[in-house]
Amino acid sequence: MRFTVAIDGPAAAGKGTIGRAVAAKFGFGHLDTGLLYRAVGARMLAGEKAEDAARGLTPEDLGDPDALRTPDVAQAASKVAVIPQVRSHLLDFQRAFANRSGGAVLDGRDIGTVICPRAEVKLFVTASAEVRAQRRMDELAGRGLAANFAEVLADVKARDARDADRATAPMVAADDALVLDTSDMSIDEAVAAAVAAVEARKGA
Ligand code: C5P
Repeated sequence: MRFTVAIDGPAAAGKGTIGRAVAAKFGFGHLDTGLLYRAVGARMLAGEKAEDAARGLTPEDLGDPDALRTPDVAQAASKVAVIPQVRSHLLDFQRAFANRSGGAVLDGRDIGTVICPRAEVKLFVTASAEVRAQRRMDELAGRGLAANFAEVLADVKARDARDADRATAPMVAADDALVLDTSDMSIDEAVAAAVAAVEARKGA
């Protein structure tokens, strides 16, 4: 059985948490596509040309996700993500994952619009920039990393602008996506809304 859930939205809106929970609930595979761009960004920071890094990406590059979840790598990821050749090198892997039997959840920026335009369920998860910056602060603190709110907020806004304004595959809600604004929702409420959307479609 092929069943794809596409979850898009800006940084730290809750896509990953919702994606993991939906995947666990229905026994689907989960791919955090941001990690692919982060791995390319990390290789660029190490001196490689972004396009070469994307072409040569291996599973080992994704082996230590926490090392990729740093503010520097996040900014580098959003810079390499504007390069069309980088995006096209990562396309087949994402589509193959989406089509795996047993169901798949992919979260990112262009899943419902470009990678899987025919996904059975599309969600666009968002929240105010301030709420998202606070969540990122909490996440960094949980990993023992100190951060300054004003800097994290500026980082979030810079990345939002770069992701939304780029020419290729910009971050935008698909016309047929259910928009979930999680600013005033608990994690449980947001997950419940996403699960309900999947259940409604599975039963249809
Ligand atoms: O989701 P995450 O914050 O890890 O993504 C890092 C960066 O990778 C984003 O800011 C965005 O520029 C890029 N990205 C993308 N398309 C995706 C997933 C991530 O352009 N599908």
